[in-house]
Amino acid sequence: MIIEPRTRGFICTTAHPVGCAENVKNQIDYIKSKKTINGPKKVLVIGASTGFGLASRITSAFGSHAATIGVFFEKPPAEGKTASAGWYNTAGFETAAHKEGIYAKSINGDAFSNDIKRETIELIKKDLGKIDLLIYSLASPVRTHPDNGKRFRSTLKPIGASYTNKTVDFHTGNVNEVSIEPGTDEDIENTVTVMGGDDWQRWVSALQEADVLTKDFKTVAYSYIGPELTEPVYRKGTIGRAKDDLEKTAFTITDALKDIDGKAYVSVNKALVTQSSSAIPVIPLYISLLYKVMKAEGLQEGCIEQIHRLFNDRLYLDEIPTDEEGRIRIDDWEMKANIQEQVAKLWEEATTETLPKIGDLDGYTTEFYNLFGFRVPNVDYTKEADEMTGIPSIT
Ligand code: NAD
Ligand code: NA
Repeated sequence: MIIEPRTRGFICTTAHPVGCAENVKNQIDYIKSKKTINGPKKVLVIGASTGFGLASRITSAFGSHAATIGVFFEKPPAEGKTASAGWYNTAGFETAAHKEGIYAKSINGDAFSNDIKRETIELIKKDLGKIDLLIYSLASPVRTHPDNGKRFRSTLKPIGASYTNKTVDFHTGNVNEVSIEPGTDEDIENTVTVMGGDDWQRWVSALQEADVLTKDFKTVAYSYIGPELTEPVYRKGTIGRAKDDLEKTAFTITDALKDIDGKAYVSVNKALVTQSSSAIPVIPLYISLLYKVMKAEGLQEGCIEQIHRLFNDRLYLDEIPTDEEGRIRIDDWEMKANIQEQVAKLWEEATTETLPKIGDLDGYTTEFYNLFGFRVPNVDYTKEADEMTGIPSIT
């Protein structure tokens, strides 16, 4: 069928299989254009279908020929109804990997559940034996707790006081003020339950108990810090508490992995347009200004450039460089003083009238559509596409 974008706020309810596969191909080509990374060999990626998780899977498979198992939660297609973008991304990825004889299998289901953990471990035992890297890149607004079946919802709220700042509706380009009421203690707890370190720790301990981790096993989860400007809604808000918890959990996991010399890291990544970040108030305006400045300075990166740098210049060095809190930093270019000074200055000037000139609103919008396989160069959108495109090897 002919597939067109259908957007509702910061979501798009359709996705294009050919556009998604083309995005994946571009990321694969980027990795292939670099020299081989002395990287992982057998990898499990949780949250493998979009954003940083997908880039981690591609970098593993095409950077060091790694076998990958990807876990994600995506909507399969139905006759006349498209799948979600992560489904088509995975179809494109697996097809490309298999063509080059690279092992790739996927599991579609709730990573928070005990069942999916069990199923994944069985697949590792059957096909890979042991894994040497676990990437934890899950981003979800809800978690059904595996112990009691209770559903928890994460929030994106400030703590202590309400927060008012500018934001942009990137569909219309309107810059307006938003006010967000502070989260309650319950909001904080729930957000930590969904996006904190508990599930990461459960994954590692289930894998360790099943004896499917190699000696020197590594695991990495992704975090964000960002500038003072967004602190009330991000790092010092409810989601920031969850990231604090995630970062603390790295130490707990490393302690638990002493016997096998395993290590857990958090990597602080750059702000990028993904399905998760478009849902956060204020952040889209920040990103559109940031992109403008970083592009002008020749420092702009997408998910694939970020993860390539993570593997090549951090994770697989003999000595992994970290900050004083033990975190890997690949947000170093975003956080450069001269970048942040320029963004802060533009922030003051940003209005509906000025933004098209001083910010990269076009870049933002294009990348948003790209997430769903739309507006991708070299794709003919007037041609029929097969919405039933499947994933070659899925459980
Ligand atoms: P994303 O929305 O692109 O990816 C989320 C992934 O999680 C998808 O693969 C999705 O299928 C999977 N997922 C969601 N719920 C699931 C469930 N219940 N079971 C299994 N899989 C599930 O998000 P992203 O932006 O790539 O974020 C990944 C991580 O990177 C998050 O921890 C995020 O905070 C962090 N991060 C993001 C940014 C940014 O600007 N986007 C910056 C720094 C760090
Ligand atoms: Na991801």
